[in-house]
Amino acid sequence: MKISPSILDADFTQMGAELDSISTADRIHLDIMDGQYVPNISIGAGVLKQVEFPQEIEVHLMTLNPENFIDDFLSLGAKTITFHIEATGISRAVALLKLMKKKGIKAGITIDGYTDPDWLTDEILELADQILVMSVKSGFGGQSFMPAALLKVEDLRARGFKGEIEIDGGVTLENISEIADAGVDIAVVGSFLMKKAPAERAALIADLQKAQVRLT
Ligand code: DX5
Ligand code: ZN
Repeated sequence: MKISPSILDADFTQMGAELDSISTADRIHLDIMDGQYVPNISIGAGVLKQVEFPQEIEVHLMTLNPENFIDDFLSLGAKTITFHIEATGISRAVALLKLMKKKGIKAGITIDGYTDPDWLTDEILELADQILVMSVKSGFGGQSFMPAALLKVEDLRARGFKGEIEIDGGVTLENISEIADAGVDIAVVGSFLMKKAPAERAALIADLQKAQVRLT
């Protein structure tokens, strides 16, 4: 299982040391919140460009009008950008996925904790390189994992989605095996990792990475 730590709970005054402590992770997950799609505001590309990320970064846009942020995060070097279907609706999502692919970004779409998976139409499944299935209601770190998210993952695999499936919210060592069993490729891990002392994180990442992804 690939592990993508969310740095939402990192100590921003010690960013270099925080990133060193998670350097064995497969990628870094950046949570961008606009205070509109979700109640919180987190951080934007302008501040993040001061940070040197040692590994691949992926950007999770929890914003209205995700179209407005693509170029900024592309310049930041993001390999994958994912936005919420709830923020755009279906037809704008289709157009944006096409645009992102044209720009050479791995095009991701996110479905929130309480959203019906029917929002992800067959056309969206064909276009998306990655689907991020939220296992909490987006907006805050530190919430409990919603097991219903795994039914969504199984449903996406049953519908033939072959791209990457990522899960986000409430992931711990307790639930990582069932997450892998459902067919998830990448798990975002926030508070479970970042609330631990930096010296403990590499061992936790290694344990999380051991979860075996089911071959589909
Ligand atoms: C929630 C964010 C997540 C979150 C993960 O809206 O998208 O990435 O911070 O944190 P934990 O693992 O604490 O749920
Ligand atoms: Zn996230």
